[in-house]
Amino acid sequence: MRVLITGGTGFTGKALVRRMIESGHEVLALDCKEGYRSGEIREWGARLVLGSITDRELVNRCMNDIDIVHHVAAAFRDTAAPESHYHRVNVYGTEVLLDAALRHGVKKFIYCSTCGVHGDVLNPPADEEAPIRPADFYQKSKFDAEPLVLQAVERGLPATILRPAAIYGPGDLGRYFLIFKQLERGWFPMFGSGEVLYHPLFIDNLLDAFECAMDPERGHGEAYLIADDRFLTIKQLVEEAAVVMDVQPRVRYLPLWPLTLASYAVQALCRPFGLAPPLSPRRLEWYTLNRAFDISKARRDLDYQPRIGLAEGLRRTWDWYVKEGLV
Ligand SMILES: NC(=O)c1ccc[n+]([C@@H]2O[C@H](COP(=O)([O-])OP(=O)(O)OC[C@H]3O[C@@H](n4cnc5c(N)ncnc54)[C@H](OP(=O)(O)O)[C@@H]3O)[C@@H](O)[C@H]2O)c1
Repeated sequence: MRVLITGGTGFTGKALVRRMIESGHEVLALDCKEGYRSGEIREWGARLVLGSITDRELVNRCMNDIDIVHHVAAAFRDTAAPESHYHRVNVYGTEVLLDAALRHGVKKFIYCSTCGVHGDVLNPPADEEAPIRPADFYQKSKFDAEPLVLQAVERGLPATILRPAAIYGPGDLGRYFLIFKQLERGWFPMFGSGEVLYHPLFIDNLLDAFECAMDPERGHGEAYLIADDRFLTIKQLVEEAAVVMDVQPRVRYLPLWPLTLASYAVQALCRPFGLAPPLSPRRLEWYTLNRAFDISKARRDLDYQPRIGLAEGLRRTWDWYVKEGLV
């Protein structure tokens, strides 16, 4: 099949490009810029178009002859961007893609949302019926696009919404990279108790979920939480990363409130200059929000089975950092 992957040079998008090519599909990747070693996707045989998902004309051209759309692109990591940018890319950009997909008779549209739409989970584990309470404007913009997907379903587009938990694996230069780097320095600063719940999702498990959702007969008009088979506390996560690295997990507990105050101050100082704050309230959510999910619905409807457990996932991730010379 001919597959369009938005955000195809990002962490998840690039891994999905590879999986789709390995599965024998023809891939067109659309992203606003080159990413980490994104030249590789051309070597694997994908076509890469650089441009924005908010560009209707470009999106319409990209949608020509496409069977499947994996909509992965998002304003996500840019902490300097204003709320309006998040809304434009994540909500309006999704609308542009849905309109084009309807016009071109796409067979299945998969929207990559986030487990973050449920915010701080009150009664863990949360399933898809748990309250929607996004904790920041990124999460809100991801949720605001979900009703647009459901409206497109009513207009005749076969579509499925995936709400991934915290994605990690080879290629990720985010949170896990920081955990490994910090442990390598000899100790890990744990702000708060370290007892908040965290639900990892190894990248290959998520790629399996994308493949399951491609079936037009499965998950039509539904949203699914996608995660690994177990959740744990962030303290346990750090300890498991230390085991993989074969180092002592020296965790130093520090109060959270001074960092929280500092994060608001740093963000306020950086904003007028359009600078990405090195510390922001959103980055501290890792220490404060409970995230633990029940994935029974995806198991039942999509036949999704997380194959890679945490120890194996962490080992593969650490090996990748070593191979790339990043640690
Ligand atoms: N990582 C997680 O833990 C996690 C958890 C749940 C859900 N998600 C969702 O999963 C998806 C992938 O996440 P990720 O971690 O792979 O993020 P990522 O590495 O930031 O990938 C997203 C890609 O989309 C691109 N993009 C941004 N604005 C665009 C635009 N206007 N037009 C075209 N491309 C654009 C980004 O480019 P720039 O780098 O230039 O912004 C980036 O290459 C996102 O939809 C995210 O919301 C992620």
